[in-house]
Amino acid sequence: MTSRSGPVAPSAVAGPDSDSLDAMSGGSIPRHVAIIMDGNGRWAARRGLPRAAGHRAGAEAVRRALQAAADQGVEVLTIYAFSSENWRRSDEEVSDLTALMRFYLERELKTLEKEKVRLKLIGDYAAFGPELVSRLEKAVERTAGNTRLTLVIALNYGSRAEIAAAARKLAERTAAGELAAADIDEERIEGELQTRDLPPLDLLIRTSGEVRLSNFLLWQAAYAELLFLDIMWPDFDEHVFADALAQFAERQRRFGGR
Ligand code: FPP
Repeated sequence: MTSRSGPVAPSAVAGPDSDSLDAMSGGSIPRHVAIIMDGNGRWAARRGLPRAAGHRAGAEAVRRALQAAADQGVEVLTIYAFSSENWRRSDEEVSDLTALMRFYLERELKTLEKEKVRLKLIGDYAAFGPELVSRLEKAVERTAGNTRLTLVIALNYGSRAEIAAAARKLAERTAAGELAAADIDEERIEGELQTRDLPPLDLLIRTSGEVRLSNFLLWQAAYAELLFLDIMWPDFDEHVFADALAQFAERQRRFGGR
């Protein structure tokens, strides 16, 4: 066991119940987990299936991830469903992804309500057109009072654009005389990000073996633990999630005693 600043490791006294394990790792359950859901296309190609089949299987993995996060007591799950760069894909694939989101929303709204999940959106999702936007906003409204878990779906999201928008907002406020340039600090910038009402990002997971952030939550990931998994997103399930949380707890434990 690694050393702690506390007098006695709680597990030595209390045994390995969940409270003591949590205390040992300095609060091992991450409050905010984000996922770059990568590998749908490769998952499909390996099975001789079209990319759309990979995305459909990916949507099922979203259900499992959501359930696992709720069951594990995570407060916020943020998923990268569509990046601002994804428009570069074929019209057919963009339309498959949009249709899938519409279908998922329709089918899962009841689940979100039943499981007390609040839906939140980040990104410039207006680009998806009035019909999907209205469905999305209706789902956000209908789940606004839920407190068990917040599911944040990043749609047409790009982190640099988010940071640029925050800078623009602060510049406008400065030009209007509401703010002095010297007042612009990290907290002010954070206060203009779309994630401003969320707890800090603790754990960022990317599947598919790619090791990069792809313009996702760049500011928010400054102190997050990063976990790159070799599995393709459609293979993600509650066991993978539990293992990811175990790895997070290990890392916290290693840096414990701060
Ligand atoms: C990356 O796989 C995945 C995406 C670009 C989209 C993620 C979308 C889903 C998981 C399904 C729909 C989401 C919701 C919220 C219902 P890729 O196509 O880049 O895979 P590849 O790198 O193997 O080609």
